[in-house]
Amino acid sequence: AFQPRVFSGIQPSGGLTLGNYLGALKRFVDMQDEGNFETIYCMVDLHAITVWQDPETLKRNTRELCAGFIASGVDPEKSILFNQSQVPEHAQLAWIFNTVARMGWLNRMTQFKDKAGKNRENASVGLFAYPSLMAADILIYHATHVPVGDDQKQHLELTRDIAAKFNHDYGVDFFPITEPVIEGAATRVMSLRDGSKKMSKSDPSDMSRINMTDDADTIAAKLRKARTDPDALPSEVKGLEDRPEARNLINIYAAFADMTPEQVLADVGGKQFSEFKPMLAELAVAKLSPISAEMSRLMQDQDEIDKILRRGAERAREITAPILAKTYDIVGM
Ligand code: ADP
Ligand code: NA
Repeated sequence: AFQPRVFSGIQPSGGLTLGNYLGALKRFVDMQDEGNFETIYCMVDLHAITVWQDPETLKRNTRELCAGFIASGVDPEKSILFNQSQVPEHAQLAWIFNTVARMGWLNRMTQFKDKAGKNRENASVGLFAYPSLMAADILIYHATHVPVGDDQKQHLELTRDIAAKFNHDYGVDFFPITEPVIEGAATRVMSLRDGSKKMSKSDPSDMSRINMTDDADTIAAKLRKARTDPDALPSEVKGLEDRPEARNLINIYAAFADMTPEQVLADVGGKQFSEFKPMLAELAVAKLSPISAEMSRLMQDQDEIDKILRRGAERAREITAPILAKTYDIVGM
């Protein structure tokens, strides 16, 4: 049996969004504080460079992301918090997994198709192989559970396929078949200008996205401009069918308030968006502004951030080094 262990990561590929907070960071803190798991959280810079990152910006984004983790409540004493490139076993295991994963499996990944766009021939090989590295991130810890947003579901399935094929090919029971944990009201926060696209920090063209560092006026203005329909809010969830923008705003409210969408609609059903949007803005500002204030405070001491990351990488390597050594042995190296 594998010990209960959580791994998850976020790319330092831009400023953190509301989607990253509600879909990932807030859940990371819950799982850390519930105490049922050893929790391991990572800034995945090797993933970020699968699309071009300016080197200075990448360094700044990595530190800012570390500050975002801590300001959101990830405690570097309770969790292992580190930067991926400082733990070389991630990339080493990813190479083994590149030999396990099949071309056909990776060809089916929708994130690659979305990110590569029409010009697939010009996408980096790393962008294509991204899911092998993600499988390595998780399995180098023998992680049993991975809290993620809904967009990562397909990659998690591939991680399970890689673990199963490795175990089968080498006749071992070495890697766990990891469970995705996709829970809560905001597993997929959508763009505020297009209810069919997810809100993403890696989409710089979407100026409607709410950044965790936005000030109160900016958050209120972005929510005021959020696309909606002319109808009043329904009092039951079935009234949100075919109303993706309304559903998105209700889900965001519910996730911030630790309520279900049903509970939120019981309170706000019948209201117009002109009344609901300021309520949502007030709640979002109340939750995000202490975090963003703490982020800027932490960013003033970059040496301290670097120290936390170095210490986290040392702790991570206590787990990854023996697992990589055993993997090499299994493979015959
Ligand atoms: P992004 O797409 O914003 O660059 P990442 O790929 O770094 O984000 O993902 C970091 C975590 O945030 C993952 O667990 C991902 O599922 C989650 N996440 C990203 N965007 C959203 C969203 N719009 N709604 C919910 N979760 C999200
Ligand atoms: Na993503």
